[in-house]
Amino acid sequence: MRIEQASRAQLETWRDELRAQYSAYQQRKLALDLTRGKPSAEQLALSDALDGILQGNYALDNTDLRNYGGLEGLNPARKLGAEILGLDPAEVIAGGNSSLTMMYQAMQYAWMLGPDGKNAWRHESGVKFLCPSPGYDRHFAICEQLGIEMITVRLTDNGPDMDQVESLVRADQGIKGMWCVPKYGNPTGCVYSTETVDRIAALGKIAAPNFRVFWDNAYVVHDLVDNAPALANIMERCRAHGTENSVLQFTSTSKITHAGAGVAFMGASKENLAVFCKQLGIATIGPDKVNQARHLKMLPDVAAVKAHMQKHAAVLKPRFDCVLQHLREAFADSDLGEWTEPAGGYFVSFNTRPGLAATVVKLAADAGVKLTPAGATFPYGKDPENRNIRLAPSFPKLEEVDLCMAIFTTCVKLASVEQALAS
Ligand SMILES: Cc1ncc(COP(=O)(O)O)c(C=O)c1O
Repeated sequence: MRIEQASRAQLETWRDELRAQYSAYQQRKLALDLTRGKPSAEQLALSDALDGILQGNYALDNTDLRNYGGLEGLNPARKLGAEILGLDPAEVIAGGNSSLTMMYQAMQYAWMLGPDGKNAWRHESGVKFLCPSPGYDRHFAICEQLGIEMITVRLTDNGPDMDQVESLVRADQGIKGMWCVPKYGNPTGCVYSTETVDRIAALGKIAAPNFRVFWDNAYVVHDLVDNAPALANIMERCRAHGTENSVLQFTSTSKITHAGAGVAFMGASKENLAVFCKQLGIATIGPDKVNQARHLKMLPDVAAVKAHMQKHAAVLKPRFDCVLQHLREAFADSDLGEWTEPAGGYFVSFNTRPGLAATVVKLAADAGVKLTPAGATFPYGKDPENRNIRLAPSFPKLEEVDLCMAIFTTCVKLASVEQALAS
């Protein structure tokens, strides 16, 4: 179906066919949900061995796991985090269940006290953050809550548009950081190219001294294919540029083991970690070391993590294949939309014709399929072109994904044809 070349009569025929299909779906009174970027019960069950795995043995790393203390996490847990992030164990701390919480804390400390413990962002006027978009709504929510102005940056297939990023940073010392999801980004699934990683590592040479890249590597081991794309090691590039303090890294086992009961990691220069831990020590006496030990027993090293992730891929891949199959069948050689075909992560990103994302989301909702709200993938919830829709196929059952996608593609077609007829 090509809208641009269709006659009015052709468009009217399509519209009538699509309306009939759409109302047939409506009559089924479905209640489906394609919004939730969380693991399915089948994936969670892959880690059920965590329960009781310590068998009453609470000693590890010369520590009584049950007691207070150990702010930076167990040493073997820091080592595991370091292997995952490609860092030295002294550059990693292991914490509680959520990397988002760590990011939030790092942002709060930077705002209140400064990422270097000296130059607090709150003492400056015009504090801004770069937000490559489409991106992760919860990153944007943190900035919004702190009153940090967000600047949308184009996200290309290779990562943020670095010409744009560099010229913005060069021109404005009020820019204090940038959100990055460098591997299988939420929602596009793009993997930053080696050149992009290098240029991000070099930003510390032109940015304000209290500028920090928030490198959220949430999907670092979440490959869906065998020959997964490699991500360059940003800390190595920072060392080459002498900018080790300009990047804070985060990841977690949320989508490796139990999403609500995993272990989060923060990686940074020793200097940055010391500043962070000084503040963290006011908020907590230490993390859940029992849970860290449970994880180490099940996943002692990165090889074990990777083997475990293959089991996740076996569950996830058919769902992604289903989404992509529907999109290809409905829209290949059409002018109705574009989408990403990620090699990992949790999402597929779809762009409608300009101005249609909100209409498609509403049509889908009225036919019983909940989609992520239009605009959610942009700062302030405002997609300038009203095009982007995040598809999250991990949680529903495969047959539900199949039905959701049949309805979704019908909604996209119907919205596109009606828009063309109205114009
Ligand atoms: C990019 C990104 N970062 C962080 C998170 C949340 O991580 P955690 O569970 O470790 O807080 C998510 C969850 O969807 C995510 O997509």
